[in-house]
Amino acid sequence: MREVTTPEDMRAWSRAERARGRRIGFVPTMGFLHQGHLRLVDRARERVDRVVLSIFVNPLQFGPTEDFAAYPRDLGRDRRLAADRGVDCLFLPETTALYPSDPLVRVAPGPMADTLEGAARPGHFAGVLTVVAKLFHIVEPDVAVFGRKDFQRAMLVRRMAADLDFALEVDVAPTVRELDGLALSSRNTYLNGDERRAAVALSRALRAVEQAWRAGEADPKALERRGMAVLNAPGVTPEYLALVDDQLRAVARADARTVVAIAARVGATRLIDNVVLGEGVASDDAVRT
Ligand code: PAJ
Repeated sequence: MREVTTPEDMRAWSRAERARGRRIGFVPTMGFLHQGHLRLVDRARERVDRVVLSIFVNPLQFGPTEDFAAYPRDLGRDRRLAADRGVDCLFLPETTALYPSDPLVRVAPGPMADTLEGAARPGHFAGVLTVVAKLFHIVEPDVAVFGRKDFQRAMLVRRMAADLDFALEVDVAPTVRELDGLALSSRNTYLNGDERRAAVALSRALRAVEQAWRAGEADPKALERRGMAVLNAPGVTPEYLALVDDQLRAVARADARTVVAIAARVGATRLIDNVVLGEGVASDDAVRT
């Protein structure tokens, strides 16, 4: 596995590979890799000849009271996991390389960023899209793979790529879950034993909504109440449970494409999850970690 740290070296590597006729897949991450990230690598591998994985904890997407400094990091382990999974090039930019000065020009994500995570985390998606745009320009991939776990992020990246004419395809991969349903996340490492057990309320709430919908309930308000009753478990502070379409708009009636998105605090840790009603939690990948 090749390792590069400067944008210049990264771009040179990509261009050299492309000159040899190879298609490039890209998996951007903030590291502390888990099976969810690694499935994105597999997914890219199925589509392209060379896979680039980046690790960069992007300060621009963290609010002033969020966990930027505490965000988990373990580069030695990440390196091994990426190499074992067949990553061809690991891109590890320094903060000063991506942001030599505070960027004055940033990507404005528009109204899709005003709801759900965007409402809870002001400025978050501008920070995400700005760094993703920069990484796309540096890596120049043919395909970029994102996880459905962060549904709003993936939809915003897709929309940015379309609206700003990025010459690449944005592929979205299923959520990888623990056997009990908890979606894998680098932030799960913050949970203690009791919190870890309580955290299963998120996926249980999604399943409850999905089951009620399959049983014939299509009224979003009724489905929201059903899910909230399950999410509101001991040790869990619900933030939102919303039924939206792929443009993040509230739906008038739930159908097979409707996304149920939820966020809750478990202890001090904020967790998110979602499901597409017609696909269901069971269609996601489960792993034993
Ligand atoms: P990070 O949270 O590290 O996630 C990197 C990618 O892994 C994202 O596309 C995310 O959706 C995906 N992912 C995380 N957990 C997953 C799971 N359980 N199943 C499937 N995919 C999962 O997303 C970011 O980093 C950053 O915002 C980034 C896009 C890199 C920009 O800084």
